[in-house]
Parts: sequence; structure tokens; C-alpha cells
Amino acid sequence: MGPALPDFPWDSLADHTATARSHPDGVVDLSVGTPVDPVPELIRDALAAVSDQPGYPTTHGTPELRQAAVEVMARRFGVTGLDPAAVLPTIGSKEMVAWLPTLLGVRAGDLVAIPELAYPTYEVGALLAGAEVARVEGLTALGPRTPALLWLNSPSNPTGRVLPIEHLRKVVDWARERGVVVASDECYLSLTWDSDAVSILDPRVSGGSAEGLLAVHSLSKSSSLAGYRAGFVTGDPALVKRLLEIRKHAGMIVPRPVQSAMTAALRDDQHVVDQRARYEARRKVLREALLGAGFRIDHSEAGLYLWATRDEDAWDTAGWLASLGILVAPGTFYGPSGNRHVRIALTATDERIAAAAARLAG
Ligand SMILES: Cc1ncc(COP(=O)(O)O)c(C=O)c1O
Repeated sequence: MGPALPDFPWDSLADHTATARSHPDGVVDLSVGTPVDPVPELIRDALAAVSDQPGYPTTHGTPELRQAAVEVMARRFGVTGLDPAAVLPTIGSKEMVAWLPTLLGVRAGDLVAIPELAYPTYEVGALLAGAEVARVEGLTALGPRTPALLWLNSPSNPTGRVLPIEHLRKVVDWARERGVVVASDECYLSLTWDSDAVSILDPRVSGGSAEGLLAVHSLSKSSSLAGYRAGFVTGDPALVKRLLEIRKHAGMIVPRPVQSAMTAALRDDQHVVDQRARYEARRKVLREALLGAGFRIDHSEAGLYLWATRDEDAWDTAGWLASLGILVAPGTFYGPSGNRHVRIALTATDERIAAAAARLAG
């Protein structure tokens, strides 16, 4: 018997899904947040070019891929001085989030700290390792307890909140004093609107050293590559080495064609700029429509979601939107304190976003 895991949240949305699907003009699905735009051609070409690969790929990834990741961290996020050996490709970032506590040796009796409102897989990962979970808003909420691992997620899923440099710096100092590993999930770092987000490895945060720090990156949203399963982790060379050793033994390997596709995606910034512009335009349409329909939008200064409320129970809001054929995620999927918000994803075609706006306008 494994650990007791929470119910898979999306299963509880079945009734609302059926309601939304019955809308005569079809559903507008803004729930899961799955990319809908075409995979950029340069990435598809790179994938196809290495389809004849009978041999095993390396767990560590090709040198080209690791170099491209080092360069992307410098070019897009101002993180310099990373060693390509300290980059490790992952099969999307969800598996890394789910297995990181186990791979780091976190075990029963240990504590994993996660944001109060959080992507559900942080909790799942802690439970898979047999550890306890503390949902905390700020370090003081931990009291005297010292976690083995602390997760950050800025920009946040679901709230779109961005943590400022000074806050991140304090967390890093606090964690280093106590030997706590800080894992920063940075999958929305390229998608900022009203405020700039920085990596945990930004020298203003890290002091120029990756000690005790891991940055978890994903190409799912920035390059519309969710279907390829493409991510990487980088940071403290000793921690990455440990992850690599176990992942080699466990067969946690990114397929070779995906490694090539990732390399091409990381070498090109234009498609990321283009994708960002698509989401920005959709965000504007949805935001105005929601405000016009009486919603309040909290945080949401970055990332791929609007964190919206009508100051009522989250399920009532989700039900009302489902009656308009618009499917969203109740905030409770991300933690108990999300009980008065819904998370509305920007991941639908322009046509579907316009349909949602028209329905919200009545
Ligand atoms: C905060 C966060 N982390 C990680 C993931 C996993 O993304 P992927 O496995 O596609 O890289 C998601 C997906 O939505 C997410 O929102």
C-alpha cells in the first residue's frame, strides 16, 4: 500500500463539465490550462530530424541541450555562471515536482513546506515520500519547525502572484542558515504582465551561488510543448548530481527526439515572445469581460491564470460559469483558502476566449 493521496481534483468537476459541454455554442474550457496553439515549426522540425534513434538517450541530456539551457537562463532570466553539468532534463516538470522529495531523500518524519495556495503536485510529492506537508504563507507561519524542503512558485499557479526579490532573498538566507533545500518552480517565469518575476538563481536573490537551490523549469507553457513533456532542473551542482544518479538508475530519461526539440526551443526566443503576446491579448479580453460581469481579480500580475472572485463560494462561481458553458477550476483545488476564488486559464483559442467574453457580457 502506498501513501494515501488526495482525490484527483479534476474528477470532482464532472457535473460542471457536463453542464458546460451542453451549452449550444459549445464549451469554453478554461479549467486545466492546457496549451492550444500550434507547436512552433522550428521545434517540430528539430523533433522530426532525430526520429531515427534506435539507441538509448542519456539521462543527463545531450551537451547541446544542457548548453542551450545554461544560455537560456542567462539570456531570458539574467542567471549567469551556471555549469552545464548542473542541468538535468526532465519529462515535463510535473514528474520532477512529484518525485523531487523522494529523490532528495526526504522521508517520513520530515516536513515539506509548500505555498498556502499551490499547484497540487507539491503536496502529492511530499506524500509520496511519506513526509508531512505544511501550507505556509511566509516563513513565520512555519513557527519553530524546519522543513527539509521548501517549495516556491513565482509567478504562482493559481494566484498569479509574483514574489519580490527582497522576499526571495530572505527565504534563501533563512533556508541556507538551516540547511533547507529551496526548490523554485519557475514554469511561468516568461509570462509576466504587470510585474517582473525573477529566478531563485538571479544573483540578486542567490548572492551568485546556487548552494541549496534548485530551479525547476518547463517548456510546456512558454513553448506550447506540454504534449512533448519537456522540462529541466538546474541549480546546486551537488543536488543536481544526486538527482542525476538516481534518475539514471530509475530510467527517468527524456526521449532523444524531445531532447532535440527542447534544444531548438531553448535556442529561439521569438516563438516565446509570440506566444506570450497571444496570452497577453487573451488575458486582456477575459479580464475586461470578468470585471464587467462583476468579478474582482486578485493578484494575477503574471502567469497563465486569472484568480477571480464574486465573493461567494468557489463552487457557486464555478457552477454559474458552467451554466454559461465556461469551465473553470474552483480555488479549493489549490488549498482550503481558495474557497472563494476560481482559477481561469488563458489557454483557449482567440475564438473561444471571445465566446466566453460575449457570454459574460450577457
Ligand atoms: C506550477 C506548475 N508547476 C508544474 C506544472 C507542470 O507542468 P509540466 O509537467 O507540463 O512541465 C504546472 C502545470 O500546469 C504548474 O502549473
